[in-house]
Amino acid sequence: MKKKVFITRRLPEEWIHSLRDEFEVDMYEQEEHPITRAELLSRVEGVHGILCLLTESMDSSVIEAAGDNLQVISNVAVGWDNIDISAATQKGIFVTNTPDVLTETTADLLFALLLATARRLPEAERYLRTGAWKSWSPLQLTGLDVYGKRLGIVGLGRIGAAVAKRAGGFSMDVVYSSRSVKGELERELGLCRVEFTELLQTSDFVVLTVPGTRDTAAMIGAGELALMKPTSILINGARGSVVDESALIDALKHRRIYAAGLDVFTHEPLSPRHPLCELDNVVLLPHIGSASVETRRRMAGRAIENLTAALRGEQPPHVVR
Ligand code: DGY
Repeated sequence: MKKKVFITRRLPEEWIHSLRDEFEVDMYEQEEHPITRAELLSRVEGVHGILCLLTESMDSSVIEAAGDNLQVISNVAVGWDNIDISAATQKGIFVTNTPDVLTETTADLLFALLLATARRLPEAERYLRTGAWKSWSPLQLTGLDVYGKRLGIVGLGRIGAAVAKRAGGFSMDVVYSSRSVKGELERELGLCRVEFTELLQTSDFVVLTVPGTRDTAAMIGAGELALMKPTSILINGARGSVVDESALIDALKHRRIYAAGLDVFTHEPLSPRHPLCELDNVVLLPHIGSASVETRRRMAGRAIENLTAALRGEQPPHVVR
């Protein structure tokens, strides 16, 4: 008898058809709208594997609802903050993610967000489209330079390192803070490790690339924002939980920092009525870090490899520890 797999969001058939040869696959029908909690709990019942997105909370009740067959929760994401790792590991269930395949795409987006925020690109486009552009003028839509500035990367993992590489092309002085010394990257990219406080005090751009865990929750709050320069820009492409959003709104409103570029939020999707949407010194994106067709396909492929290995009784290549 084939093992059962539940896919929590509709993915293109050509991405997942290989699963159908080996497993009995049930897939939620909608692509745009997430599955309701009640439907999720009922459809995971008795499955051996779940292929899920970061929008679905895989907490202990989902794990309970799946029952004793469940062997693997395969996230189509590098982050895993939607999964209760300890509830899964207590039951011997593998939790897997999709590292590497989204690194470059996410670094591209973070650098694009940095440039867009510094040079006020969305505001400039709105200015043109709304007919506000009446004449060229010397101070019109002036932003901040990027080249030659100091870039501070918080958490120098794969994505942080890929952002650092891009900064080389802009002659930026790159510093990082991290629990461990990244000697090889320091040598390869000419980076310098500094204390977190120094990074905040001296960087023109602070880019957050840490995972969203209990340790990183609200690591940027009022105190940290107060250390940043009034001309500095905060870029968050990690998880919304890493930044205290109320403190950030306050800092942006009172121009304690120059601007922020955000791809992630405490609660997603962000409502257009959210106070962040009232500010002009913030660029807001709907969590599109890895959103290229090629990368999303590669992420699904990696998630399928992980799931298939676990269900065949093998060690999946990308287990979250
Ligand atoms: C991830 O994979 O964790 C990203 O946030 C998705 O873009």
